Order: sequence, then structure tokens, then C-alpha cells
Amino acid sequence: MSNIKNIFIIGSGQMGSGIAQTALQSGYHVTLNDASDEAINRGIKNIEKNLTRLVEKGKLEQGKKDEFLSHLQKTIELREAADADLIIEAVYEDINVKKKIFAELDRIAKPGALFASNTSSISITEIASSTKRPEQVIGMHFFNPVPVMKLLEITRGLATSDKALEMAQEVGNKMGKVTIVSKDSPGFIVNRLLDPMLNEAVNMLDEGVGTVEDIDKGMVNGCNHPMGPLALTDLIGLDVILAVMEVLYREYGDPKYRPSPLLRKMVRAGYLGRKTGKGFYQY
Ligand code: 3HC
Repeated sequence: MSNIKNIFIIGSGQMGSGIAQTALQSGYHVTLNDASDEAINRGIKNIEKNLTRLVEKGKLEQGKKDEFLSHLQKTIELREAADADLIIEAVYEDINVKKKIFAELDRIAKPGALFASNTSSISITEIASSTKRPEQVIGMHFFNPVPVMKLLEITRGLATSDKALEMAQEVGNKMGKVTIVSKDSPGFIVNRLLDPMLNEAVNMLDEGVGTVEDIDKGMVNGCNHPMGPLALTDLIGLDVILAVMEVLYREYGDPKYRPSPLLRKMVRAGYLGRKTGKGFYQY
């Protein structure tokens, strides 16, 4: 037993706030961190909204909701990670930003704390290299929407210890997630399969093979996917999918991973999907 009680989450966007909500509902104390109060408050509002929905559906008692929220703290100061047993970074996909955060955490965090990144594709080994404790750095990749999706994909960097893996698995189990373990390979297991499929859907739209609706209906009705690839790209964020494809393309040097030009253009236009109100659909 690792005795993890306090989780510090860096990044309060859809992934960070989703992880925070799931951790609270699993009995952890959570501190949510971001660069500004406004960003954190948006994340907290999201958590409150989701918990309220559960109360309204009769799936959660009001008293429990209040208890969970009483275990949630917020801060814009990274140094408050000093007491955390587990730190989960869920900021945007930029290796330099992540390395800077982990180098700073290395100076702040207590010995024995587990450092996790929710990265969807960036090398855990490289992130870990910015610390002096790479054996305590691991990938904990959650799926969107975090409270609903059952999977936690755990990635071992080259130096990640067995103890760190056990700790991450224990947290995943306590959160009620199914855990899988991936080698530190670009895209890990799920995004190596999923994202080229989503990227190909955008290529097909660009080529006029089908309309947005028909491409999505095809995969929903022909393959029983819960939502079509373009709707899913809107949910995840076009910028996130582009970032993963860039990593796959660069790391493997294989043209089959070339990011769709339309995907790139839409990201440049700020059409990032649900979070900006416009992607392949309007929200
Ligand atoms: N937060 C919390 N709960 C949510 C939610 C959210 N954002 N969105 C939906 N839910 C809950 C609903 O409240 C509902 O709960 P209930 O069953 O208790 O009533 C349940 O999920 C089902 O929601 P809906 O009835 O509104 O809608 P659907 O049945 O269509 O389900 C969906 C919505 C769960 C999003 C489903 O369409 C789905 O599973 N889609 C695929 C999602 C997916 O593939 N995610 C993985 C993306 S890849 C990723 O994240 C990795 C990254 O690195 C790229």
C-alpha cells in the first residue's frame, strides 16, 4: 500500500478537472492548480456542474457532493505541491512546458511523491529526464470524459520503477478504472490506434469522400462506435489530435502519420471543437 491521500493536479481544463472530479469521488483530497484563478474556477464550475447532475439523477447524495467539494482546494502556486503524494500534470501538449513544470516539481515535491503526466503522446522518458528522480515519473493517461471512460493507460518511461507502476495501478484501481500498461512508445497503445483513424476521417472529409454526417453515421452504425470520428475529434479537441499526429509523424518518420492539412487549417482558424463552440459541428 502506498498511502496516497493528496493529489495535486496541474491544469484545470477538461482533462485536469475530469481527473480532479474522479479523484474526489474516489476519496482523495485534491488541489487543483492552473496559471490563473479564472482558469481554475472554470474547472471547479465544471466539477460542481457534473456532481450536481449526479445528485439530480439520484446517483449521488447531496451530503456526499458537499463532502467531495470540501476536499477540493485550489491554488495558482506550484510550490503548494510540496505536500502532495501524487502530482498529475494535465497541461497542453508541449514538451518544453512539461519539462519546465517537472524540473520545478523536482525542487518542490517531497521525496517519494509520484510524478505523473496525462500526456497523450509525449515521451515519458523525456519528461522524466528533466527531474533527478526519473524512477518516480510515470504516464497516467486518462480518457475524455474522465468520469465516464473506464480506462487508465499507464506508461513506463525507461527508468520508471516497479514501485511507481504499483502506485499508479493502485490509484487507478481505487478510481474504478481498468488499467493497461504501455511501453513508452509514441501514442502509447490507444492513441497509436485511435488518432490515425480520426486523422483519416478528416482527410476523407477534405477529399469529399463523404459529408461530416455520413462519415460519422458510417462509424456509429457500421462499427457501433458510440460517436462518429469527427464528433469525437470535436470532443477531444482538434488541437489535441493535431499535437498527437505531429508526435507520431515526427517520431516514426512514416508518412502514414502525416497530419491532415484540413485538421491543421482548422486549428489555425481556432476551430478546436466543442471547447471553442466550433469544429466539424457547431455548439
Ligand atoms: N462529464 C461527466 N459525465 C459525462 C460527460 C462529461 N463530460 N459527458 C457525458 N457524461 C455522462 C452523462 O451524464 C451520462 O451519465 P448517466 O449514464 O449516469 O446518465 C453518460 O455519461 C452518458 O452520457 P449521455 O447520455 O449524455 O450521452 P452518450 O450516451 O452519448 O455518451 C459519451 C456520451 C460518454 C461521450 C459517449 O458518446 C462516448 O463514450 N463517446 C466516446 C468517447 C471516447 O471515445 N473518448 C475517448 C477519447 S480519446 C482520449 O480522451 C485520449 C486523448 O489523449 C486523445
